[in-house]
Amino acid sequence: MVTVHTIDELQKEKENLSGSIGFVPTMGALHHGHLSLIRQAREENHNLIVSIFVNPTQFLECEELDSYPRKDIADNKICELAGVDILFVPTIDEMYEKDELHIGAPAIRGYVLEGEKRPGHFDGMLQVVMKLLNLSGATRAYFGKKDAQQLILIIQMVKNYFMSVEIIPCEIVRDERGLALSSRNIYLKEEEKTRALVLSRSLKRATKLVMTGELNVEIIKKEMHMVLKDVDELEYLSIVDRNFNILEKIEIGNTIILLAAWVGKPRLIDNIWI
Ligand code: PAF
Repeated sequence: MVTVHTIDELQKEKENLSGSIGFVPTMGALHHGHLSLIRQAREENHNLIVSIFVNPTQFLECEELDSYPRKDIADNKICELAGVDILFVPTIDEMYEKDELHIGAPAIRGYVLEGEKRPGHFDGMLQVVMKLLNLSGATRAYFGKKDAQQLILIIQMVKNYFMSVEIIPCEIVRDERGLALSSRNIYLKEEEKTRALVLSRSLKRATKLVMTGELNVEIIKKEMHMVLKDVDELEYLSIVDRNFNILEKIEIGNTIILLAAWVGKPRLIDNIWI
């Protein structure tokens, strides 16, 4: 594995590659969720590029950019062991200039749910993902379904800008008790970790109801709210179609149930695709 910090170095290293390029963009603090994307990308491509870049433009002013977890040495080791060919770790100056052209998230899909709670977040996310996809020259890029809205917006960006990369959605990875893995989980105290399990439990409850034929969204949400009563604050619980239209009735194959909640210090998100 070679680690590169500049775009020039990255381009030089890419000249040595032949065949398909799998790409996994990350913000570091790698966990098993990232590792499953990296493993899948490794299996499906001749070459594998991973990037680690804590992207400032996708953090709101009130958010924890400086305290975002950073684990450079461990991340490096994980990438090396996972068979990454090129690890790209650029600086902010390398990625951005002062008077940048901006990419905007779509006015509706980009500003509901996460986009409503974190206005501007998806603009910054799309901006950096566009840059990273172009720089990596990826044949396929891998994103987790945990950030469902992010994933759907990236698919839309690739479609709207006629980009040739294939976006591969990857399943959510959970710990043995069901908690969806996230870099923010390190902020959970033991007691909070147990309480946070209600997120995945509520989604399981919803799935069970759907499996027994219950498609009424109000009834499903009511049941989920009962399971979710132990979180500190439920920011949203939404049942939408793949275009983020609110549903009254579950549409099998076209529904996502998403939620965001505070448990202790971290804000957690989880979802299920039905
Ligand atoms: O999901 C993330 O870690 C980030 O949003 C991404 C896609 C690496 C862009 O900064």
